[in-house]
Order: sequence, then C-alpha cells, then structure tokens
Amino acid sequence: MAATQVFDSKTFCIITGGSRGIGRAIAATLSAKFGPGSTVVLTGRSTADLNETQRQVQAVAPGVNVSVVTADLANAGTLSESLSSLTGTTNPSDFQHVLLINNAASINDMSRYMKQMTASDVDYVQQYFMLNLTSMLMLTSHFLRTFPKREGLRRTVINVTSLCAIKPMKTSGLYNTGKAAREMMVRTYAIEEPDVRFLNYSPGPVDTDMYREIIDKSIDQEFREMMRDLETKNVLLKPHQTAAKLAVILEGDDYESGAHVDYFDVPDKEENTSS
Ligand SMILES: NC(=O)c1ccc[n+]([C@@H]2O[C@H](COP(=O)([O-])OP(=O)(O)OC[C@H]3O[C@@H](n4cnc5c(N)ncnc54)[C@H](OP(=O)(O)O)[C@@H]3O)[C@@H](O)[C@H]2O)c1
Repeated sequence: MAATQVFDSKTFCIITGGSRGIGRAIAATLSAKFGPGSTVVLTGRSTADLNETQRQVQAVAPGVNVSVVTADLANAGTLSESLSSLTGTTNPSDFQHVLLINNAASINDMSRYMKQMTASDVDYVQQYFMLNLTSMLMLTSHFLRTFPKREGLRRTVINVTSLCAIKPMKTSGLYNTGKAAREMMVRTYAIEEPDVRFLNYSPGPVDTDMYREIIDKSIDQEFREMMRDLETKNVLLKPHQTAAKLAVILEGDDYESGAHVDYFDVPDKEENTSS
C-alpha cells in the first residue's frame, strides 16, 4: 500500500511551543494543508496565548479541530500527566498521518560564560535540560507508542533545531549543547524506527521573543552584534516565512530521515517552480 501523502490527509498533529513565535506560525501554515477532520493539539504554558493561536488556526483551517493543553514541559513532576493530556483519548486508527512537532525551547541565561557556572547551578541546568532535552525524548517515545506502526499510516516527527546545534555561539552554551543532543537523539530514533520520518529542521534567524531575548541579554558583545546585524541587513525572517519553508520540505519529502535541513538549504517555493 502506498504511504499516505504528507498533506490533505486526515492528520493528528501535536505542536509544542504552539503559543507564540515559530510554533504559532507552523500551526497556522500546516493546519491549512491538513485534510478535513484533522486534529491539532497546541501546547505551552500560556493558556491565553494558546487560545489566540487556536483562534488563528481556526480562521485559516475551519475543517480542523484545534485543542489546547496548558503544560509546563520543564516540570518533571507533571510530565507524565502532560503527555497523557497531549494524546488524550485519540483513536490512532482515526488518522492517516500523525505528526509531532517538537518546537518548544528556551534560551539559557546569557549573563555568564560557561566557566562561570558553579555547583549551585545544578538545579537550573537540570531544569533547563528537562524542557530542552528530556521532555522531547519522553514525548517522542510516548507519541511513537501511542501511534504504533500500521499499514497505510504515515508517522512524522520534527525537531525544531538551530544553527547552534552545529556551530557554537558564545553565552548560549546550554542551548548549543541541548540542540546538538536533540539532533543526535533524532538520528538515533531514525535508525531505530526506519518507517518513521524524522527531521531536524533549522528555521533560520526568526524575529521572535527568543531572538529579542538574545539581543537584550547576551553579555557577549560580538554575539549581540552578529544577531543585530541580521535585522539591519534584512536577513531576519518572519515566523510565517520559516513555517512556509517547513511545509515545502515536508511536502517534497526527499530528506534523509534524521537529517539536519536548514531554511537556507532549500529554495523558496516560487524559486522551485520557476527553475
Ligand atoms: N527565533 C530564532 O531565531 C530561532 C532560531 C533557531 C532555532 N529556533 C528554535 O525555534 C523554536 C521556537 O522558538 P521561537 O523563536 O519561536 O521562541 P519563542 O518565541 O521564545 O517561543 C518559545 C515557545 O516555547 C514555549 N515554551 C517555553 N518554555 C516552555 C515550558 N517550560 N513548557 C512548555 N512550553 C514552553 C513557549 O510557550 P509558553 O511561554 O506559553 O510556555 C513558546 O511557545 C525553538 O526550538 C528555538 O530553539 C529559533
């Protein structure tokens, strides 16, 4: 049986960090391409922001059911309950495509360089990796068990990664480390689960709260100026641009499972069609 197509099929999709920034744009862009009766689950800590994303998705994708799960993925004590809420009472056989987008993340405290960290930072570091690494591992495994391999079912898992996974930047040591580890996690899943499509998508520099936080808070002048230059030189992307590129990559479906694909690796759709 041929694999279900990426878009237009009845899809169950979870988007972490769906309350703002890139996650919100991905929610609207992809939902508009899902088939009727699809379900999108948005999660983040801010219920008000999730509700706003839900409203935006419903405006562009009226045939899609959108639900909101308020959850703090840095909280180890509530993680199990959060995972159950995300998949809920979903009947796996109702869907032709299941898609998990691991997008939620945070930038670390950028007021220090790596060597300034001390043993008093252990709790902070553990909590940082709880959100940025451990919760993604637990959610991905939970997702794959909830939606086991089935004839005709397409399964896709995306990790929203960063250039920092492969190129270190100063003062974002935990972020760089977490993104590198997530990519290796995804590559390991890819060889263990060959029938699932895994993608490390690097969204490029995007104008979001995270970008502004780096400019405001990094104590490294060189890093701050490099980030600021992106805006001055008009290289900074809008969330909808990177979401559209992700859609192009998914639709093309020609990436190697587990690969790192950057926004700038793939021509825009217009360039694609004219060449
Ligand atoms: N912006 C860029 O230039 C850029 C570049 C490369 C990669 N990325 C990656 O793109 C992804 C999205 O980033 P963004 O720029 O859109 O950042 P953002 O605007 O800061 O959004 C971060 C998202 O993560 C959620 N989140 C944060 N802490 C959470 C927690 N403890 N529990 C649950 N959810 C939490 C936030 O929701 P709540 O606050 O509601 O919890 C929010 O929806 C991230 O993986 C980031 O590393 C961004």
